[in-house]
Amino acid sequence: MGEGAGRGVSPNALRRGARPMNILVVGGGGREHALCWKLAASPLCSTLYCAPGNAGIAQEATCLDVGAEDIGGIVAAARDYAIDFVVVGPEAPLCAGLVDRLEAAGIAAFGPSADAAILEGSKAFMKDLCARYGIPTAAYRPFTDAAEARAWIAERGAPIVVKASGLAAGKGVIVAQTVAEAQAAAGAMLDEGAFGAAGAEIVVEDCLDGEEASILALVDGAHFVLLPSAQDHKAVGEGDTGPNTGGMGAYSPAPVVTEALAERIRAEIVAPTVAAMAAEGRPFKGVLYAGLMIGPDGPKVLEFNTRFGDPECQPLMMRLMSDLLPALIAARDGELKDFDLRWYDEPALTVVLAARGYPGAYEKGSEIRGLDALAGDPDTVVFHAGTAADGDRILATGGRVLGVTAMAPTVAEAQERAYAAVDAIDWPEGFCRRDIGWRAIAE
Ligand code: AMP
Ligand code: GLY
Repeated sequence: MGEGAGRGVSPNALRRGARPMNILVVGGGGREHALCWKLAASPLCSTLYCAPGNAGIAQEATCLDVGAEDIGGIVAAARDYAIDFVVVGPEAPLCAGLVDRLEAAGIAAFGPSADAAILEGSKAFMKDLCARYGIPTAAYRPFTDAAEARAWIAERGAPIVVKASGLAAGKGVIVAQTVAEAQAAAGAMLDEGAFGAAGAEIVVEDCLDGEEASILALVDGAHFVLLPSAQDHKAVGEGDTGPNTGGMGAYSPAPVVTEALAERIRAEIVAPTVAAMAAEGRPFKGVLYAGLMIGPDGPKVLEFNTRFGDPECQPLMMRLMSDLLPALIAARDGELKDFDLRWYDEPALTVVLAARGYPGAYEKGSEIRGLDALAGDPDTVVFHAGTAADGDRILATGGRVLGVTAMAPTVAEAQERAYAAVDAIDWPEGFCRRDIGWRAIAE
């Protein structure tokens, strides 16, 4: 293992014992706070940095004033701070080739190459891969021409789903109940640039029925380790209504994913996808996140993400008993075969506090009070998603601002604990859904 910048983590580093490492986490949301919280607890981590981080992350890591999408800036910071291992949180720098650039500079990094992150960066690529390798997903067509898309939508009928092919922060999907609504969405994306370049190509696909669940896997290019199931709440409104967001809450495990179903997901979706990416010359390393619809004929892929989900990462990190760092290093080093992770049996649940107006326009800069009262309870952690410190004050700076996360013997108790913490936070400019976990509790 390197004594300074420019050296990768040797595959044998861990077997040689604890030579502490400088770690850099890239990103500044709730996912990165959860990752930093877990990595800071690793005996292998000597100094933890985060770029750019946020006010909550600053309690775990030294925050560096470099944006997550500033590829050159991140590579330079990794050199300047003698970073041994970089963990990339968000999709945008992955798709922009951050891991490739770091590795080329001799700095070991966790996450897919740009060639592999295309699985998230292009829904057209993802759908085509599924079609060619027999990975179950909704029937679809890609379009760049609005007239052709409209004609196909009219032929297929509603309900039907229109998706911007590129990255749109979880907002580029329209589940249309009528042909007119779908045609309008296709026109807005292709003719009016509703999602910019991300909507220059669209995918139109059949609407699937069923219950959603997410399975994440740590992947090393050839082998993988499934993480426990998780479920997020994408819609802004209670009862899963209203426009989609990045995620208003999440819990793990998702009761819909029984052991038998997890086995089907492993065999029918994760294993063939990992093999397909390798066969395509795009070996996938990092977190493969399969967003699934569990219907009458089994699991089908709604989307792939190429990173930890946010907020799903928050309950998952809380449930992880093992040290996260060796697992991420093993994924990067291609050594996940026979790797094992231990988890707490207790469910964990995250309630997102967002700024009023989100996912539409919202104000920034309001003060959040009452956070100190929550410190010290090991089973309740407030992960910060969009905050900045102003002296002693904590200000809201994002749409999703806090992820209040609790672990308890049952989902219902975890929910109760999380909302008790939510109610202790004094932030009139924020809101949350009051029903996170309702499906799991109903089951
Ligand atoms: P995605 O970002 O592709 O996962 O889509 C966001 C959300 O839209 C999903 O979580 C589903 O709730 C919904 N969705 C996406 N594709 C479909 C589909 N083919 N059928 C029904 N709902 C879908
Ligand atoms: N919570 C969904 C995502 O991270 O994409």
